[in-house]
Amino acid sequence: MDVDLLVLGSGVAGLTAAVQAAAAGLTVGVLTKGELHQSATRWAQGGVAAVLASDDGDSPDAHLADTLAAGAGLCDVDAVRVLVAEGPARVHELIATGAVFDRDAEGLLELAREGGHSHARVVHAGGAATGAEIERALVDAVQRTATVLHEGWFALDLLVEAGRCVGVAALDPSGTRHPVGARHTLLATGGVGQLFSVTTNPEQATGDGIAMALRAGAAVADLEFMQFHPTALHHPAMPRPLLSEALRGHGAKIRDGRGRQFVDELLPRDVVTRAITAQVLEEGGEHVWLDATGLEDFALRFPTIAASLAAAGLDPATDLLPIAPAAHFLSGGVLTDLDGATSRPGLWACGETACTGVHGANRLASNSLLEGMVFAPRVVEAVVAGRDGPRATGAMRSHVGDPEGRPDVVGGRTAQGLPGFPTGPERTADPSKLREGLQRAMTRGAGVLRSAGSLAATEHELAVLAAGAGPPSADPQLEEVRNLLTVGRALLAAASAREETRGSHTRTDFPDRDAARRHRLVFGVSAPAQP
Ligand code: SIN
Repeated sequence: MDVDLLVLGSGVAGLTAAVQAAAAGLTVGVLTKGELHQSATRWAQGGVAAVLASDDGDSPDAHLADTLAAGAGLCDVDAVRVLVAEGPARVHELIATGAVFDRDAEGLLELAREGGHSHARVVHAGGAATGAEIERALVDAVQRTATVLHEGWFALDLLVEAGRCVGVAALDPSGTRHPVGARHTLLATGGVGQLFSVTTNPEQATGDGIAMALRAGAAVADLEFMQFHPTALHHPAMPRPLLSEALRGHGAKIRDGRGRQFVDELLPRDVVTRAITAQVLEEGGEHVWLDATGLEDFALRFPTIAASLAAAGLDPATDLLPIAPAAHFLSGGVLTDLDGATSRPGLWACGETACTGVHGANRLASNSLLEGMVFAPRVVEAVVAGRDGPRATGAMRSHVGDPEGRPDVVGGRTAQGLPGFPTGPERTADPSKLREGLQRAMTRGAGVLRSAGSLAATEHELAVLAAGAGPPSADPQLEEVRNLLTVGRALLAAASAREETRGSHTRTDFPDRDAARRHRLVFGVSAPAQP
């Protein structure tokens, strides 16, 4: 039986949508390839940025200005206005749902400062275990609804009939293929950190939703803007343990091999990552250092980080902590309007899978959980209102044009060179070897620093791996690799075309920002905008 809304993914965006849709009286299904609680949300540390108090001079306008500055000219200003205006109420709603955030002795929400923020406005839970607490609260909430849960199901491809998305083809836990019909389908499958050898993302972050959207011809944009978190612990554990920006907000310093500070720790992430990468190259080593020795009550304030440091044999009170950048967050994704509608009627996207335009070329710290919390309810409201297709609002205007011709709206260019998938006659390596090969190639040629030569060499390596993946299969592990290859090759095409350095995309052969390139690179077929 078709549900009203089929949600793919179980992170903050997907579960928020499911809970809200059930409350609105829709029939809802959640389909996830793991267990409900397994998502990248669970690993998010810092918190949720939202202006909940104005007594220190903070305001939604200040949050807007910080987000636009971090986004390096590519944010959609209307989408950011929605984010900062609706965020505070969504935080209160989440608290009402059962999420417990850290409070001070007087019971007021504690507010932290992070890189790129002009004020302390980040609420957090369990010190730096914010994502885990949000995931817990939302899993509890969704289990109290009548939502149909498909855990351990793997979505293979979107079902499209007469141009409209009508559900997905999916493998059940035994590997049997089924059509799962839905009047509306929401992609909330998270990001694509598994493209790289060193990442803060869990094994599940394989870009499945973005790959399905590319195959179904839905518009996808800003794939070149993979954000690398500057302060992941340099350690063999994977996902890389994160040393949250909140540590720097509390005064931790970044030091070079001689103990000197070489970058302002509270600048936006792309700037700090570039500075660390340059310093590591200059020193010829593999990492620099985070000095948190001056932080009081470390274990009390950051218990989960203290535990991962203890597991690595490090004591933040006395040891300098080795750090290096790690792939963390994709700012682009499936292009949407202000209500999460994609260019395919019946198909919606939110969270890291989506390109709402709020992050531009570089996401501001702690705006990602917030994005899921703000845009998922807008999808539900639009579905309830009977909407079925994109409007010319938000980032979607990069694809369908801006009816008002406003100069502050970011335009779009059709991205060229989305490579076909060369299916070889048979698989030549097992999925884990293919994934490792892909991650090594992407890390070498499309990581923090890129050039035309490194990107072309990487594309060649990925084409060989794609041929070695053989034809489409009913093996979820292999299909995850095929999804990674699909998104990875699109990322390479976008990164090659963007001949400038902007936000988290750094071209060593084009080191400056080029005002003539203030547009999105959009893959996908056109769809008419609705009034
Ligand atoms: C962090 O705590 O540093 C990560 C939070 C985020 O990615 O915004």
